[in-house]
Amino acid sequence: MPKKIITTKAESNLGPKAISISNRKGGVGKTTLTSVIAEELANAGYSVVMLDLDSQTDLTDINLSQNEDSNLFDLLTGQKALEEVVTELFSKGDKKIIPGSARVDEIQTGVSNTLAEIVDKLKETYDFVLLDHPPSLTELSRAGYIISDQLLIIAEAQQLSLKNLISFLLEIKKLQLKTETTLELLGIVANKVDHRRKLTGKMLIEYKRTYPELFFDNYIGVDTAIPNAQFNQETMRELPWRPITLSQFERVIEEMIQRLQYVKY
Ligand SMILES: Nc1ncnc2c1ncn2[C@@H]1O[C@H](COP(=O)(O)OP(=O)(O)O)[C@@H](O)[C@H]1O
Ligand SMILES: [Mg+2]
Repeated sequence: MPKKIITTKAESNLGPKAISISNRKGGVGKTTLTSVIAEELANAGYSVVMLDLDSQTDLTDINLSQNEDSNLFDLLTGQKALEEVVTELFSKGDKKIIPGSARVDEIQTGVSNTLAEIVDKLKETYDFVLLDHPPSLTELSRAGYIISDQLLIIAEAQQLSLKNLISFLLEIKKLQLKTETTLELLGIVANKVDHRRKLTGKMLIEYKRTYPELFFDNYIGVDTAIPNAQFNQETMRELPWRPITLSQFERVIEEMIQRLQYVKY
């Protein structure tokens, strides 16, 4: 048995948190990280609900084998009640999802207040509300940032990512100044780290130099087990072998829990 890394719910004194997981770039691992955080936190005894804010609905597709009738669009447009859209997922712990919809981008005005009410209500029941964002700043994504307590950024250790990240963080800064959000920055996690590539090492140094406090000490390597598991709607724990990146995810999640107790950005 590998050593337990993640502080359990019984050992922690964290209050309920709404966390946005994002980056303005696609394909960097937002959905993957959201899904693994949910599974690992549920395993550690926390109750977790994920919200799929992306009209591409990848988070929903990798977690649910069949399409649900009720989704976030129905909830936001008042056609369905919260109990009708919160969907139970297979897990040892308490893990749920509000499935996404291709239609969420149709919703424009007033979504911020509706989402705020939904998330407040969810925080009465769940320890963690995780919001998986689209790569673009849609109205729903913007509302998601405003109503979140924290923002966790995931970045790829590749060329051009840093420039993108700087402009994304400026956008968030503007949002923090212009709105009444209480959003704080939880940090930046590097994904798909491949030490065989020279550029990766250089990029990690660049990130760390640019964002010394925000940049996580722990990161996630490249691992084909990730897309493989997702293809079969499996969690990494259900694979017949233990993927190497699982311990890396656990360390990232534990660092997140530690940071949640002392956020100051
Ligand atoms: N560490 C990793 N190693 C290998 N493949 C990964 C890793 N993280 C994510 N992926 C794969 O990269 C693709 C994009 O990931 P995803 O989480 O959907 O990104 P995003 O939500 O930012 O668009 C998916 O096919 C996913 O399986
Ligand atoms: Mg995604």
